Amino acid sequence: MKALMPRIEIALSQIRHNARILSELYGQKGISLMGVSKATLGEPSIAKAMIQGGVKFIADSRLENIQKMKNAGILTQFILLRTAFSQAESVITNVDISLNTELETVTELSHYANVQNKLHQIIIMVELGDLREGILPCDLSQFVKKTLDLSNIKIIGIGCNLACYGGIKPDNQKMSELSQLANGIEKEFQINLEIISGGNSANYEWYESAQQVGRINNLRLGESILLGCETVNRKAIPGLYTSAFKLIAEVIESKEKPSLPFGEICQNAFGNVPTFLDRGIRRRVIIALGRQDILVSGLKPNKDLEILGSSSDHVVLDSNNYDLKVGSEVKFNLDYGALLSAMTSPFIKKQFIGCS
Ligand SMILES: Cc1ncc(COP(=O)(O)O)c(C=O)c1O
Repeated sequence: MKALMPRIEIALSQIRHNARILSELYGQKGISLMGVSKATLGEPSIAKAMIQGGVKFIADSRLENIQKMKNAGILTQFILLRTAFSQAESVITNVDISLNTELETVTELSHYANVQNKLHQIIIMVELGDLREGILPCDLSQFVKKTLDLSNIKIIGIGCNLACYGGIKPDNQKMSELSQLANGIEKEFQINLEIISGGNSANYEWYESAQQVGRINNLRLGESILLGCETVNRKAIPGLYTSAFKLIAEVIESKEKPSLPFGEICQNAFGNVPTFLDRGIRRRVIIALGRQDILVSGLKPNKDLEILGSSSDHVVLDSNNYDLKVGSEVKFNLDYGALLSAMTSPFIKKQFIGCS
């Protein structure tokens, strides 16, 4: 039978392996893991592989993804990474724990938790410099104080997220700041914080070099489980698979052509006036994939192929004069952005290998 095109091949056994190695590694210093499923559009079989590998929770930024995993029978604690005021009712219905930074939203969560007679658990995110989500440390105490007055809400922890928006490194200083904040809150309010969630895949370097991890007892990992790398320098983590995902697309044109467009230059389909290098006549290959499917800059072809450019439905490659036939396959590794877009594209088939 002819394989479906374009497709992403997903090696579940490699994801399971990565989750296992990371769970064991971080477990040595008492750190539990949340497997972050958002880049996979909440794909249930990937969540299952993460759980089989030892992650304790599944975290996602989209309620729809969490609903999908629950409907598929994934049994675990689900964490919502991005809370929205307008979704509070559904958060209470579908999610065990949510990350929060706004009192209005927590108040709304409290309202619906009352209505549904549930106790909703929250982790309060603290701003430690990356400037995405988080309450400034100086405002944390007031936030906790007001939240403790809300019924049906339980503060189970605090966390931070670094190396995401501002590219700020999670280092000893940031992690001990989070630990101290946890100690301070526990002392001031006589409460126990079970989860101190220190960050994401960018925390690997800190963890490897840290003698002591302080109060940090949890990390939320997406990329390092899925793509086997840390995210401060995008270096492979020893012992992990780095190509659990492969993107495969079909060659739809393969011709020798000049490398310089001919005619009067104007804007291209995306409003840019492109410039080109004259390399003479080259074999150019077009594959059936485009910007509607994928973040083209995140495709990593093998060394014989070079991506020259792309439009909505076409990626143009220089094949190094190798005669790739129409109908043949071209394979790529993916970075996180390309993975995110490929998993989200309805045009890219998801094919699981090594299922169990
Ligand atoms: C709040 C939060 N935590 C953790 C993660 C996981 O990050 P990474 O894929 O770098 O491990 C993300 C992003 O997916 C996130 O938004």
